[in-house]
Amino acid sequence: MTHRLLIDTDPGVDDALAILMASAHPGCRIEALTITAGNVGLGHTLANALKLCEVADIDAPVFPGAPVPLVAVPEDAAYVHGRDGFGDAGLSPPSRRAESEHAALAMLRLAREHPGELTFVMLGPLTNLALALSLDPSLPERVPRLVVMGGAVSGRGNTRLPVEFNTGFDPEAARIVFDRWPRFELVDWEATLRHGLAHARCDRWFAVDHPLARFYDTISRQTRIWSAGLRGEEWHSADALAMAQVLEPERALETAERALTVELAGEHARGMTVVDWLGRGKRPVNARILLSYDRTRFEQLVQAAVGAA
Ligand code: BDR
Ligand code: CA
Repeated sequence: MTHRLLIDTDPGVDDALAILMASAHPGCRIEALTITAGNVGLGHTLANALKLCEVADIDAPVFPGAPVPLVAVPEDAAYVHGRDGFGDAGLSPPSRRAESEHAALAMLRLAREHPGELTFVMLGPLTNLALALSLDPSLPERVPRLVVMGGAVSGRGNTRLPVEFNTGFDPEAARIVFDRWPRFELVDWEATLRHGLAHARCDRWFAVDHPLARFYDTISRQTRIWSAGLRGEEWHSADALAMAQVLEPERALETAERALTVELAGEHARGMTVVDWLGRGKRPVNARILLSYDRTRFEQLVQAAVGAA
């Protein structure tokens, strides 16, 4: 089976690894990249996506999307990904150009051109998809599969609040998507924490003699050092885990089907994902939450992404 992917992304070091995983996978075709602000500003995330396509020879159109969240004041994650989002490695600017169509419009058009065929993969704040859904609420009828990296399903987030970065960056967009998309798969930050990649092994994979390994080693070095200081022996690559779920969902070992939404008004928890774990509420089940994934296979997909398999 060939997965045909529209990847919405804010590259971002882990976004880059996810996209390389998709690019390397024999059962996958990247149809388009739609770009949002998030980890850093849109100017950088767009340039990074174009640069990645150039380096990895990914022949997919790149559509610029939302520069700001719907309502929230943006707070980026430059302290994780570098001021330029790619580890401040001093890369030369991309020579490829972005499309002129807006990401949200491209989502709607591509879904109409390929009804029932695309998987939408959301690796950043959900602003572009929320805009598309607001323009055309019937979009889910034409997109059979949506996979979202976001949320922290029991409150163990990775920002100042008990909130994960992508839902915290644009809570209103997350609310629109979670409340209007009838059924999606969710890979949250807590699953990411349970599927760490040992630094010692990453160091070996990224040191192989391959242009993609060299590239990835360069852009991820700063965040891996930062992460080792904070979280110890394992590195956590959220978007890469989400991409493993996209590419080989049969390798998921445990999932939970629950009703999930996002808090908008909370004083201490704005942007927090709220899950009806006990099934006592009235909201319909909308999310398949990844709890456990085959870690060996996850590692193999990461290795293949950088030419180390
Ligand atoms: C998510 O936030 C971003 O910093 C990462 O790229 C990932 O999409 C993890 O919380
Ligand atoms: Ca991301």
